[in-house]
Order: sequence, then structure tokens, then C-alpha cells
Amino acid sequence: MDSIKIEGGARLEGVIDISPAKNAVLPLMTAALLARGVSKLTRVPDLADVRTLGKLLANLGAEVERDGEGLVIDTSSVDGWDAPYDLVKTMRASVLVLGPLVGRYGKARVSLPGGCAIGARPIDQHLSGLEKLGAKVTLEHGYVDVEAQRLTGARFVFDVVTVTGTENILMAACLAEGTTIIENAAREPEVEDLARCLVSMGAKIEGIGTAILTIEGVTELAPYEYEPVGDRIETGTYMVAAAITGGELTLKGARLEHLDAVTEKLMQSGTEIISLDNGDVVVKGGDHSKSVDMRTSPYPGFPTDMQAQFMALMAVSQGVSVINESIFENRYMHVAELIRMGADIRLEGHTATVLGVPALSGANVMATDLRASAALVLAGLAASGATVVGRVYHLDRGYERLEEKLSAVGARISRISAT
Ligand code: EPZ
Repeated sequence: MDSIKIEGGARLEGVIDISPAKNAVLPLMTAALLARGVSKLTRVPDLADVRTLGKLLANLGAEVERDGEGLVIDTSSVDGWDAPYDLVKTMRASVLVLGPLVGRYGKARVSLPGGCAIGARPIDQHLSGLEKLGAKVTLEHGYVDVEAQRLTGARFVFDVVTVTGTENILMAACLAEGTTIIENAAREPEVEDLARCLVSMGAKIEGIGTAILTIEGVTELAPYEYEPVGDRIETGTYMVAAAITGGELTLKGARLEHLDAVTEKLMQSGTEIISLDNGDVVVKGGDHSKSVDMRTSPYPGFPTDMQAQFMALMAVSQGVSVINESIFENRYMHVAELIRMGADIRLEGHTATVLGVPALSGANVMATDLRASAALVLAGLAASGATVVGRVYHLDRGYERLEEKLSAVGARISRISAT
């Protein structure tokens, strides 16, 4: 297993290109199953999760190929509906085949994803949504079997805001008979991006970007050619990299309007963020003189996927920051590792109290999940001495060429490949 080594203390300066969003690309890839033929995503990041989902689509009979920066998905010979455990257990987003398979083929057999480091992450809402659309759902031997002659439109209110749950029901409803109204829908930019792509395929969707989506089912959808939205979590991560090193970074391809909650908290804590006329975003780190409280919540609130990264910044900011993780029940795996680097953090249930320290010290630390790994790299950038982050396969799932992008702006960072 590879590790990443960082010699802390460098002030980052330069330009970073933001990649297309992992959490937009994954549902867009499964949306290709809704149409027969060749769909194309014009820009796709080179990530482990994208490769894993490509393997899953190939398992269903699709042909998935890289085409330069893009990805081509030919669904002409899709003849399967089984998402096996060995693929689903490595990537929960595999459940995103449920909606398209049931919507277009009337059946799906998907391994239950099981828990992961940050929580139980059930899919009960996905399943009750499909049942409301007329599907028959049975659970046995760790698999969920879903069948429906043809889905029929219905009104469905989510008990909890769920990103992939909304995406699954949205995709299934596009080919259902009649009208579907989804209430308490997730409003993440990646959900909006999927809806726009579905409309380009011929779907009839009203309320895009809001919590109430109205879908008029159609009998057929056409393949798409689509460019996914830029990655707001990657953007936020590099904003923190500028903030924590007191540096200055220009982020190209960022969509500042997707990061209002993050931008607000970073500016409150002394980071300067400027949006240029050409759409680039300039981020200038401050003097770490101010801590701010933060609570995660569904979009447009502060994203849970930025909680760990923000905590790394608060760990070296003067004062006290009270952080509340309201989405996942166990998304504090990075806390113990940050404490090993000298952070002063106290956990009480969903609340972390972070007392800023003058400096962190480099240490050997362990990555546990995608965003925790990013937080440890950020902490390493600011720490004195060397930090080695182990198990960086977590990072490779969601960050394209992270060490290359950071070393290009002055970070002393390198990958240590396991022999
Ligand atoms: C998506 O996961 C993202 N993944 C996650 O990003 C992100 O952290 C999460 O949304 C929250 O923003 C992708 O988009 C591929 P949820 P998802 O369903 O859809 C509960 C990353 O780092 N819930 O919105 O799986 C659930 O337990 C990843 O890129 C149910 O109870 O998350 C959680 O507490 C990590 N029943 C809350 O809802 C359900 O049926 C939000 O989960 C579904 C969810």
C-alpha cells in the first residue's frame, strides 16, 4: 500500500486546475444505462472510484473506454442486472445502478453495500422510494432484488436528505409511467448536474436545484454527451491548503457559487477569497488568528465532505472551534490521527471541540477514509517536520494526482510506493 510523505512548512503559491467532480461523474456514468447506445462524458478525472464503476458497468455488459480526457460508455449490449458484493463493498456508489436498471430493464440485483468507516450508511430510502414507484423489493443473502413490470409515477417524500437516494429515484422516475414528485430531495450541485444531463437525454424534470423535483415519465431516453461539473470538494480542499500554509493559490475551473458555506467559514477565519472575472478563484491564507464554529448539513449548508479538512485548519487556528458533524455518525476517524500530530481536540458524540495550537508536528499517520486522508495531508503541509500518511488508496479514490498538484505549487510532497 502506497504512502505519501510531506515535509511541512512550505508556503504554497501557484495555480491548480480543478478536476470534474467525482460525485457528479459516478451518477452520470450509471445514467448512461437509461439509454441504449453510446454516451460520452467529455472530461472525467482519473480516479479509482471511476475505474471501479467502469468495471461494474462492464459487468452488466456495457463497454466502457477512456477517450482522451473523457469516458465513452456503450450500453448497446447491456444484458445483466447484477452488482456483485466484491465490487459494491469497495464502493458504495455502486448502488447508483439500482435506479437506472429498474427504470429501464425492470430489474436489479445489488449487493447491500454494508457499512463503511464513516457510518452504517443504509439504503432504506432508496428502496422505499423504488417501492413507492411500484417495484417489488426483496432482501436475502446480503443482496437486494428489485423487480417491476414498469414503474408508475408517485409522490415520494424522503425521510432524510440523501444524495444518492435522490439520484436513484430521479433516474428511475424518468422512465416511469406518469408523474413522480420527489420531496425533501437533495440539492447538491452534483444532483443538479445529473438532472441537467437527464434533461439533455430527453427527460422531463421540473424544479432542478430545489428540494421538490417533478418528473414526467417518458418511454425512451437518448444517449448523452456531457461535461460534468467541477469538483467543489476538491476546490474546498485546495482552499484549505492555501489557508493552512498561509499561501496564495489560484484555482481554475472552480465554481465558487457551489461553495458559499465553505467560503463564508474560511473568510470568517481570516482567509481571503477573491473571484476573478474569468471565473478563477484566488485564495490567500491568513495568519490563523481566528477560529470559527461549524456545523455540517445538507447543501447548501457546510458539506460533510469538507468537515475533516476544515478541522485541520482549525487545529492550528488561535482560539476554540466547535464542530458538529450532523450527517454521519462516525466521521471523526481523522481526530485521533490529528491528535498524534499535536492537535488539541476533544470529542463528545457528534461534537468536536478544537483548541488551536501554535503548530502541529509531523508524524506517521493512517488514512481511514477519503476526506480524512485529505485532512491529514493538509495537516502535514503545515506541520513541522515529516508526516507520512499510510493507506493512501483512500485518497486515490477521490483526488486526481493530489501530490502532483500540490508539489507543483511548492509543497514538499512525494508518494512512497509500497514495494
Ligand atoms: C453522498 O453519499 C456522497 N457520495 C458522499 O461523499 C457524501 O458524504 C454524502 O453524499 C453526503 O453529502 C456520492 O455522492 C457518491 P447520503 P450518500 O445518502 O448518498 C443517511 C465522499 O467523500 N441515509 O446523502 O451515500 C446516511 O446514513 C463521499 O465523496 C439513510 O439513513 O450519502 C447519512 O447519515 C463520502 N438512509 C445521511 O442519510 C438512506 O437510504 C446522508 O447520506 C440513505 C442515506
